[in-house]
Amino acid sequence: MKFFIDTADLKDIEEAASWGILSGVTTNPSLYARTGGKLADFEDHMVKICKIVGDDVPVSAESTAETTEEMIADGIRLAALAPNIVVKLPICEASLPATHELVRHGVRVNMTLVFSATQALLAARAGARYISPFVGRFDDIADDGIAQLETVVDCVKNYSYGYWDEEGGPEIITASVRTPNHVTQAALLGADIVTVPFGALKKCVHHPLTDQGLASFAADWAKVVAQA
Ligand code: E4P
Repeated sequence: MKFFIDTADLKDIEEAASWGILSGVTTNPSLYARTGGKLADFEDHMVKICKIVGDDVPVSAESTAETTEEMIADGIRLAALAPNIVVKLPICEASLPATHELVRHGVRVNMTLVFSATQALLAARAGARYISPFVGRFDDIADDGIAQLETVVDCVKNYSYGYWDEEGGPEIITASVRTPNHVTQAALLGADIVTVPFGALKKCVHHPLTDQGLASFAADWAKVVAQA
């Protein structure tokens, strides 16, 4: 399973990239707003992210357009910013034809805000390169996000779609991740990718028994040093 980072924060992206585990970046309008970024700087900001991670690492930049025509125009403009830009579109009636047209221009689409298997199947059929089912938002409303993800993975992986076969697409990005357990469960289900906020990614590194082990090794080593 590949790890993406779910943030628009340049410092977090730089740090995660330095870990050598990063295969992609996903952003959305809320994540960009959280950086304090201005409308006029949005595209420059996306270019900065692309430069940090390098040309072969996909960076999802989300369009806020509402009509098919605007989504297509937005998608073509965003994709021209850098070779690794992936255009993120929300699943809706307007975005299916937009995706279908964008794929004809060679533009990769990440279909977002996916909450059902039928949405995912339609996204794949329209030509989405990535499909992002959300997990945490189900858990937030006392539903089971991982069970929902399992249905999406099972349905989508039953078929091939003829658009991104050579690249192994469409790939499923487990999104709206809140905990290391979400990451583990996504891997068990065979989701291709997990996109994780940096805070949750850090939690994946740590374990209380590791901390305990480190403390006891350090204490015992101090005894060895004291005897020298
Ligand atoms: C997906 O790419 C989205 O950015 C995402 O994971 C949003 O999740 P949230 O529920 O934490 O906002």
